Amino acid sequence: MDGHDMLLSPAGVEALRTALTRAAFTANGIATRLGPQATGGVARNDFRAALRATADGEPLDTLIRVFVCEQTEPEAAVAAALAPLSIDEALAAGLVERYGDGLRMGLDLEPYGDDWWVLADVPASARPGRPLHAEHVLGIGGATQTMIGAAVRQPVQSALDLGTGSGVQALHLSTHARQVTATDVSRRALRFAATTAALNGQQWELLRGDMVQPVAGRRFDLVVSNPPFVVGPGTTTHVYRDSGRVGDAIGAELAAAADGLLTEGGTMQYLANWVHVAGEDWGERVAGWFAGTGLDAWVIQREVADPMAYVNLWLTDVGEAADPQRMADWLDWFDAHKVEAIGFGIVSLRRSGHDDPVLRVEDLRQRVEAPMGDRVAAWFDRQDWLRRSGDGLLDARYRAADGLQLRQEATMGAEGWGVDRQVLTMPHGLRWTEEIDPLVLALVGGADGRLPLRDQIALLAVAHDVTPDELAEAAGPIVAHLVERGFIEPVRS
Ligand SMILES: C[S@@+](CC[C@H](N)C(=O)[O-])C[C@H]1O[C@@H](n2cnc3c(N)ncnc32)[C@H](O)[C@@H]1O
Repeated sequence: MDGHDMLLSPAGVEALRTALTRAAFTANGIATRLGPQATGGVARNDFRAALRATADGEPLDTLIRVFVCEQTEPEAAVAAALAPLSIDEALAAGLVERYGDGLRMGLDLEPYGDDWWVLADVPASARPGRPLHAEHVLGIGGATQTMIGAAVRQPVQSALDLGTGSGVQALHLSTHARQVTATDVSRRALRFAATTAALNGQQWELLRGDMVQPVAGRRFDLVVSNPPFVVGPGTTTHVYRDSGRVGDAIGAELAAAADGLLTEGGTMQYLANWVHVAGEDWGERVAGWFAGTGLDAWVIQREVADPMAYVNLWLTDVGEAADPQRMADWLDWFDAHKVEAIGFGIVSLRRSGHDDPVLRVEDLRQRVEAPMGDRVAAWFDRQDWLRRSGDGLLDARYRAADGLQLRQEATMGAEGWGVDRQVLTMPHGLRWTEEIDPLVLALVGGADGRLPLRDQIALLAVAHDVTPDELAEAAGPIVAHLVERGFIEPVRS
């Protein structure tokens, strides 16, 4: 582990792994013990059925009661459940802590995936009134899962997780990368990541330093990062949340660093927040981060929050919601910088080596079909195809995507229904909706893979009384857009 100490001694990690494996304290083992009803209850933070199902005092029962149901249990039972890890070492590591007349969890030991465990800090919501450690190590929250879902999971030689925290992204990278490197500025976080790695029998290169500094001059096939993206005046109270950069500069900084981090064909993906400034187009602002990088860039905005909701969310996250002065200072900063809203989204970049990189910044707020990473990979594949086909776009044959749906809005007039608006909807994947005119609708409707598009256009031109050349010229960009979003797919022969 490159000299990074762990929360436990190497022998202690092995002992903990033995205890957890022996007890079957895995996501599946727990679901089997609890059954569907109690498992559903746990997901809603209702532990009643889970507590009834774990009353036998076996090691698995105790582990579930302590680490899932957040109970205080007798020391003898906890010691028996964690053995052969000694209770003294578990206490010294902070894995469990004394509370009342027993022991409760001191760290979040989360069974995860099929047979993984992730170590993180207990969230603020579980310890009301106790201030979070400045180097609090984040557990598996919403943003973490967004990054996990969005990552392109293709086999690669080398992968980097920037700002690894608990190590959960690195854990996923280890399923498809031969070498995993993970960095963090926080020594404490690296201790957690090192322990997560060892507990799961993994070997990662762990490096400490500010953002890309520890990997300067090195290149990776895949880089993922769930960085401290929270936007504010640039003060750092909690390192998992605050980058110390003013405003949304961390997103721009990662964009600027990407080209130097990626191998040819390599992909970098990260989560970011960006400000919506009064009088400015947020999309143009964010697009500016990528100008001149030479990378293909796809930025999708998944959520937008107003400043008040945003500040509330992030103060609650660290257990400081009741601090009116903190809230006022933060909101004043937004006011002073004319910030009307804050966007949250996913940045995907690729070093395609072409001198005409694609740059798209768009809203994608709809629910999408998981895993999103597959859609990202397909999007870059389609960009490659579009680039390769160049002027030959109209010579290809296309097939409409499966299951497309059409919604019409029409008004009844003297001559019957007059169609006002037609919206094409993709019921799968990214679930795009697209308002289209009757001609384009006819093109999509006729895309059955048999005729080259140019021939289809010639037939339509006759029907609509325009010249085929005029129609072809107008259709080019529209066809490219429909291919990019996957409404029509080229038939590859
Ligand atoms: C939002 S947490 C993400 C943790 C984990 N990767 C995940 O997805 O749940 C951000 C992580 O970045 C680390 N970090 C904060 N500032 C950093 C910096 N300047 N350079 C490197 N890492 C940093 C924090 O310590 C924290 O572990």
